[in-house]
Amino acid sequence: IRYWSPAAAAITGLKADDLVGRQAAMALPGWGDLLDGVPVSAQPGPAARDATLPLELGDRELWISVSGVQFDDGVVYAFRNLTEERALDALKSEFVATVSHELRTPLAAIYGCAQTLRRPDTQLDSRTHERLLEVISQECERLTRIIGDVLLANQLDAEQLRIEEEKFFVGELVTEVVEEMHASLEAHERIPIAVSMPENLGHLLGDADKIRQILLNLVDNAVKYSPEGGRIEIAVERQERGLRIAVRDQGLGIPHAEQQRIFGKFYRVDPNLTRGVGGTGLGLYICRELARHMDGRVSVMSKEGEGSTFVLDLPLAVARREEGAGVASGAD
Ligand SMILES: Nc1ncnc2c1ncn2[C@@H]1O[C@H](COP(=O)(O)OP(=O)(O)O)[C@@H](O)[C@H]1O
Ligand SMILES: [Mg+2]
Repeated sequence: IRYWSPAAAAITGLKADDLVGRQAAMALPGWGDLLDGVPVSAQPGPAARDATLPLELGDRELWISVSGVQFDDGVVYAFRNLTEERALDALKSEFVATVSHELRTPLAAIYGCAQTLRRPDTQLDSRTHERLLEVISQECERLTRIIGDVLLANQLDAEQLRIEEEKFFVGELVTEVVEEMHASLEAHERIPIAVSMPENLGHLLGDADKIRQILLNLVDNAVKYSPEGGRIEIAVERQERGLRIAVRDQGLGIPHAEQQRIFGKFYRVDPNLTRGVGGTGLGLYICRELARHMDGRVSVMSKEGEGSTFVLDLPLAVARREEGAGVASGAD
């Protein structure tokens, strides 16, 4: 190595002083393996196509786009760092893979039901008929939810979200969430959801839709990750500076090492479905981001095998009595 540019030093983190004067293959351990794949053109000018290759640097790996030009006294190699682009590409293909898998399952069910309903040779009794239509409508709802999650995650990324402020009653909101949850479950899948709430909660000011969405996601997870059943509790509490809603389950729990990562986009503890439940890994990402947009947060306490508690904290103001004249009664 005769020359090592500052840009090369910045990309690799290796300093010119440590490299210049040494054999390339010795100074850069991964260089020898990479060299065969690098196109070298005979003269400067519009270069041969770059090759995108991994460069091993001891404990790290960089993806670089690299090409060379042959001069009388050596080869000049130019390279660009593509590591981040690669990571982004990986995230994109992961996204496409999870989302298409998640979309395909309900689609297959809808298609199957529709085919059965259309068969001319079998006479379905009215209960089966009704049942098949019910599956179709449930699976359509599931598709709608998945697409809604994807679009919402996209809006959150683009920071395009608007937070509204309206007067609402938490008790009503929690009841709606429980009802919606129960409606989406088969009778035999029902799992008791207990709600505890102080009497004199009053009306609050905030974005009820966003809060409902967070709760739905948390309760959905609580049900989904409690394969053995158990009990789910939603506890609403007034805090000094707002509202706290805890969703507690007695399900699988989450290993300590995963407790931060589960809030990441597309992150799932068990992506290979060994536990048999599907999902996009967007739910908690959406919860965390929605809460953040409302200056609140979602946190988790859990022990593997012993259930989980997700806590939503939001700094919500109490609605003044006169602001809500005519809206719901008796709760202030
Ligand atoms: N209540 C819970 N109990 C156990 N694990 C949970 C719970 N909630 C979330 N998780 C874990 O966190 C991961 C991410 O959750 P989420 O973002 O809602 O995605 P999804 O439900 O689509 O997998 C889940 O895949 C699951 O492994
Ligand atoms: Mg989820």
